[in-house]
Amino acid sequence: MTQVNRMTLRNQALSTLALAAAFLTSCTSTHPPAAPLSAKPTGKQVTIAVPLGLPPVPIPENNPPTAETIALGEKLYFSVKLSVDNTIACSNCHDPRHGFTDAQPVSTGVRGQKGNRSAPTVINSAYSTTQFWDGREPTLEAQAGGPIINPIEMGHTAAGAEKAIDQDKDLRAMFETAYGPAPAGQSPVTMERIANAIASYERTVLRGNSPFDRYLYGGDKKALSQAARRGLEVFRDPKKGNCAVCHTIEEKFALFTDNKFHNLGVGIDPEGKLIDEGRIKISRQEADRGAFRTPTLRNIAETAPYMHDGSLKTLKEVVDFYVGGGNSNPQRDKEIKDLQLNKQERADLVAFMESLTGEAAR
Ligand code: HEC
Ligand code: HEC
Repeated sequence: MTQVNRMTLRNQALSTLALAAAFLTSCTSTHPPAAPLSAKPTGKQVTIAVPLGLPPVPIPENNPPTAETIALGEKLYFSVKLSVDNTIACSNCHDPRHGFTDAQPVSTGVRGQKGNRSAPTVINSAYSTTQFWDGREPTLEAQAGGPIINPIEMGHTAAGAEKAIDQDKDLRAMFETAYGPAPAGQSPVTMERIANAIASYERTVLRGNSPFDRYLYGGDKKALSQAARRGLEVFRDPKKGNCAVCHTIEEKFALFTDNKFHNLGVGIDPEGKLIDEGRIKISRQEADRGAFRTPTLRNIAETAPYMHDGSLKTLKEVVDFYVGGGNSNPQRDKEIKDLQLNKQERADLVAFMESLTGEAAR
């Protein structure tokens, strides 16, 4: 290549660069840079400790938990700044003092608005293969942003929530610690990071090591009362309670849910019509009409009222509902039928469920 040619090429390259730069500056002067910030934490991944009776926590590849994201997620979970009028935090509806629920049949969001479903517990939701009563979201990450922009829950916009968090100096600093410093002029706070951090915190909301776990998995034969031990047998016996067919107990751990959807006939109006159609709205399968995801039974004594509509007030009412075979309707699950249980067996079932109140890992 001759000297001239090289010069020309170099000049051409330079002028192309200059053009590109001019284009870029004219762009950035009117719009903020659009490059999305990575929502992958920069810190060292930690192992989440699990209490007795639970399997290892499944971790998504794109959101490994770190000490910094868990701490940030916890702060966000309890922060009213995620709601449009600074009144509602996630913890209002999923309150640790009520087993991470709100003790109401249906929840109340911003401006006193009521939803139409009961707040499920966040306990052990790390293991759920779908989220919500109808399983409409696949992961905790996908779920966490929903309530923030839901008009009757927290009522915010994504941009509004990001701004409110960004204006809190301490929270903003926690984002930089968890995800690395933001480029000049850019906020480290993004919805994706908010959702990821909350999800990582939620993965630490675990309960196990209950009297049931110490009895079945810890070899402590005295951990369960006589009544609870009999109740466990009723719970597992296909000819008695038949509960474990859906609220599963495995050899080495128990999640008390098959992560599947079933119709028990909860929420049928006096004319026999389903008030909430449940899973069918998502799956479009006729068999899923009135079906809801099997909830965990861990810490169940703390999370009354029960069922997706909060229609049953006590565990005794739940047992009576099952003894009566739920509510008959064309899609009722084939495992739901009238149960032959005497008074003692019903009381034992309740005693068993009360033995499922556990604790976090120590
Ligand atoms: C106003 C009350 C309310 C607020 C605020 C709220 N939730 Fe919920 N949450 C609910 C209700 C009700 C459902 C069930 C809705 C459904 O299944 O359709 C739910 C479902 C969930 C689930 C799914 C659990 C399961 O077992 O399927 C998770 C996880 C969750 N919320 C986390 C959060 C987080 C994180 C926040 C804050 C960003 C939050 N929620 C804010 C009421 C609330
Ligand atoms: C066919 C599967 C199936 C069987 C069998 C079954 N359950 Fe359930 N259970 C569910 C589903 C699904 C729900 C939620 C239903 C709804 O809200 O519409 C539920 C809800 C519950 C709840 C309320 C949980 C909450 O957080 O609101 C309790 C308690 C319960 N079941 C206990 C039992 C007991 C005790 C038995 C045995 C007598 C039993 N279940 C048998 C699937 C089942």
